[in-house]
Amino acid sequence: MNIVIREYKDTDYDACRALWGELSQHHADIYEDPSIAGNDPGMGFDEYMGRVDRCFTCVAEREIKVVGLAGLLTTHEMSEGGEIEPVIVTASLRNNGIGTKLVEHVVNEAKKRGVRFLRIRPVARNIRAISLYVRLGFDLLGHVDLFQDLNSTSDRNWKPGIIIHGQELKY
Ligand SMILES: CC(C)(COP(=O)(O)OP(=O)(O)OC[C@H]1O[C@@H](n2cnc3c(N)ncnc32)[C@H](O)[C@@H]1OP(=O)(O)O)[C@@H](O)C(=O)NCCC(=O)NCCS
Repeated sequence: MNIVIREYKDTDYDACRALWGELSQHHADIYEDPSIAGNDPGMGFDEYMGRVDRCFTCVAEREIKVVGLAGLLTTHEMSEGGEIEPVIVTASLRNNGIGTKLVEHVVNEAKKRGVRFLRIRPVARNIRAISLYVRLGFDLLGHVDLFQDLNSTSDRNWKPGIIIHGQELKY
């Protein structure tokens, strides 16, 4: 499959907003909670584009169509730190190596910019993404993001099965 990774251009806006919608839908699917996608699932892309720490955004293009999106967040305040956010490949073309190409591209960009600690933060239930990132070398664990679900009316089903330092956690 011939895939070109190139920097984001303004004309990619609609395609990238649609990709963000696919990301929101994926999260809604894995948590079995349609409210995650909401009425405007691509809205997160507008928020992302406005972030002050957004320093590099690239797309994957196949036959002049944008089929993937990835980016790097970093600021001077973050010193040697950076984060890959987002990583999205259109659903029909997943498992063809496009996500790998996007992540490798952003890792190289981070290296060029002097980032030392490059993180990536998939939700704990995103098993496909975690598998990809570990294979690509993200095998150090930094912060553990613990939280409570304070919405007692929520019917989100938290699954058992994660153990860290002997503590059993749900995800
Ligand atoms: C996570 C995501 C970005 C991965 O993108 P992808 O294009 O499917 O990723 P790849 O094809 O490179 O890798 C996926 C698997 O396909 C396999 N694969 C299949 N064909 C391949 C090929 N030709 N070349 C390389 N890998 C291939 C890889 O081995 C890989 O498996 P592994 O990671 O368990 O080793 C994509 O599934 C996605 O967009 N998901 C929804 C949004 C999302 O969850 N984003 C991440 C948020 S943190």
